[in-house]
Amino acid sequence: MTTYEIPRPTSGDVVDVILDDHRLFETLLRELRSSASDREAARAALSEVLIAHGEAEEEKVYQQLRRKHAIGEEEAEHGEEEHAEGNEALLQLLECTGTDTQKFDDAVENLATLLNHHIGEEEQTILNPAREEVSEEVRAKLGADWLARRNELLEQGCGSVEQVRVIVERAHQEGVLPADEEE
Ligand SMILES: [Fe+2]
Ligand SMILES: [Fe+2]
Repeated sequence: MTTYEIPRPTSGDVVDVILDDHRLFETLLRELRSSASDREAARAALSEVLIAHGEAEEEKVYQQLRRKHAIGEEEAEHGEEEHAEGNEALLQLLECTGTDTQKFDDAVENLATLLNHHIGEEEQTILNPAREEVSEEVRAKLGADWLARRNELLEQGCGSVEQVRVIVERAHQEGVLPADEEE
């Protein structure tokens, strides 16, 4: 059994510490593709850090950058939509019983596609404006605030299948994701 350590720094420039997590996502996705890894452990670690990362971004970074006019409402809302789509794909992955099935591989691929798109776009449309429009001091403050919330969520264990299901349901109810279809 492998344990995937999720680093929990408490300070840093918000751009740098967010980028560190984006790299961790890429590493964990690679682990999830490899038949040599402990895929259960990699899946659990990715779920925890992905949920903590995204929720904390919405609460502690997007709104604050909007208030400072670094990004517009559009960028923030688009980011939140992509988080919701990613969480939905994560839920599908968490709901796979086996880790050595085609269903699991497909769920990993689908999550990787959405996540790679999101982190690319976030780096270009949210982190670049943060670099250019806000001071170093503000970036340090946002970094500390974002990390505090992220680490608190990690401490609580925010990535269980039950909790991800609740987050996805809430996104449907709030209209961030399309209304659930009748089955
Ligand atoms: Fe991010
Ligand atoms: Fe994000």
